[in-house]
Amino acid sequence: MATKINETLETLLSHRSVRRFTDDPVAAADIERVVTAGQAASTSSAVQAYCLIRVTDASVREQIAELSGPQAMVEKAPAFFVVCGDARRHRLVCEREGGAYKAGFEGFVVSVIDATLFAQNLAVAFESMGYGLCFVGGIRNDLERLTALLELPEGVYPLYGLVVGRPDQSPDARPRLPVSAVLFEDRYPDDATVFEQIDAYDAVYRAYLEARGATPKTWSSSMAGKLGKPLRPGLASFYEGRGADLS
Ligand SMILES: Cc1cc2nc3c(=O)[nH]c(=O)nc-3n(C[C@H](O)[C@H](O)[C@H](O)COP(=O)(O)O)c2cc1C
Repeated sequence: MATKINETLETLLSHRSVRRFTDDPVAAADIERVVTAGQAASTSSAVQAYCLIRVTDASVREQIAELSGPQAMVEKAPAFFVVCGDARRHRLVCEREGGAYKAGFEGFVVSVIDATLFAQNLAVAFESMGYGLCFVGGIRNDLERLTALLELPEGVYPLYGLVVGRPDQSPDARPRLPVSAVLFEDRYPDDATVFEQIDAYDAVYRAYLEARGATPKTWSSSMAGKLGKPLRPGLASFYEGRGADLS
């Protein structure tokens, strides 16, 4: 017999990104609790290769909002955080133990995976408390400047931001691909099947945008427009310059 829907599933299924907030603050005790929930996520061999930087300095927030788009929510949301992959403490302990940090590309991948498991746990914990949030990839528009603004040391890799607050909007859920398009048994489907799934989803996606008053586009054309050119081409050299080994 299938498991009944429970509060955890309800929280997960009611996710939508929130970009407008009331002036209510995010309680310090709630931040501590959600970070603890974030840390409870699985972590490769307990490396815990992440950190979270809460940015409270108004001038720094204004500048990050600017370089992120501009995206006003970064400046105006009750709380703004930067999620980082963090190999700093691993470099320090390797050196203190008489060696050197040499984890290679796998070390960088692990930090991105660990940070993202942490961040998603944290996001769900916030949502379970009635907060709304939106991740902010826009911070990667200018990682050099972000790193200087936050005075980040070598080995700390900013990945994305997170704005949080009490929702002042209740957007409709953005439709996802059908389960059959992401859950496969034993074999990846052939391209004709993939296209069938995409075509069905394109119609749903277009109707969703139309209902929101946005320019109606299919998911296919959005993806082709977005992914048909290199995205933020300086990223690899930036992360390498901060100590990541991407070779
Ligand atoms: C890593 C990441 C970065 C994102 N960056 C931005 C951003 O810079 N600005 C923004 O408005 N939304 C951003 N989003 C939100 C996505 O656009 C949103 O999650 C997606 O369209 C699905 O909508 P939903 O979250 O409402 O379900 C980001 C989401 C993720 C996971």
